[in-house]
Amino acid sequence: MRKILELALATEGTLKEKKQQQFARCALLNTAQWALDCRTDVPNAGEIRAHLTEAVCSMSTGALLFADALDSLPKTSSRVVCLHRSAIGLESELIWADLPRPKLIITSPPYPGVHVLYHRWQIQGRRETPAPFWIAGTQDGCGASFYTFGDRKQKRLNGYFAQAEATFRSLAALSDRGTVIVQMVAFSDPSWQLPRYLEAMANAGLTETKPEQVSDSRDGRIWRAVPNRKWYASQQGEIGPSKEVVLFHRVRI
Ligand SMILES: C[S@@+](CC[C@H](N)C(=O)[O-])C[C@H]1O[C@@H](n2cnc3c(N)ncnc32)[C@H](O)[C@@H]1O
Repeated sequence: MRKILELALATEGTLKEKKQQQFARCALLNTAQWALDCRTDVPNAGEIRAHLTEAVCSMSTGALLFADALDSLPKTSSRVVCLHRSAIGLESELIWADLPRPKLIITSPPYPGVHVLYHRWQIQGRRETPAPFWIAGTQDGCGASFYTFGDRKQKRLNGYFAQAEATFRSLAALSDRGTVIVQMVAFSDPSWQLPRYLEAMANAGLTETKPEQVSDSRDGRIWRAVPNRKWYASQQGEIGPSKEVVLFHRVRI
């Protein structure tokens, strides 16, 4: 796998533009993760090439469809802005001065107490590799807790909830009465973590609203079983990380 990746990365220079090179690295990331992360058997070279071709095709089709969808919008509303930064302090960005308040904020924050490795792939259920950074050509160095609102072993997850609160306080500062904040989140132990999470949202200045047409759940919220949950999370059983909930909030005025 390493040899194939080295060969592929060595041909990067045949693509003239930086954007093309980044696109190719994304396709390689997709393929290498499929081939390595949480698998017991590593696919052969032919299968890896076939997957890479498929990834390039579906990524280009997706990009074209997205561009078409943007083209079909009225020109005034089709400005796309990407900010690569923490959501904490987002309201301090200067771009908001020229933009209306968001109508919709859609997000999936890190999950409390749920073990997910964002910055490593796990090979054959054991060894962890920083290969994603090598393939992407970016720096590794922030550590697991950077991606998860803090270490999952903290007492009562106090650091996690402090970060969640700070994040949603920033989102509340950007919102007005018309903004809906939708998020998908799961819990390692929903019995105490869900109420604690909702308390953090309330502290951030948000009020929960429940959609009217949810009839199949006892608490009026939308829950779903998670497809393709990484094996180390699904080992913890049916309740908890293998079930995700969708929460709707508005800012409290
Ligand atoms: C449950 S995952 C959601 C992944 C996302 N739905 C996707 O498809 O990429 C949580 C994500 O939140 C990111 N994250 C953690 N802290 C953050 C912060 N302060 N600001 C913005 N994103 C953060 C993590 O890196 C991780 O990718």
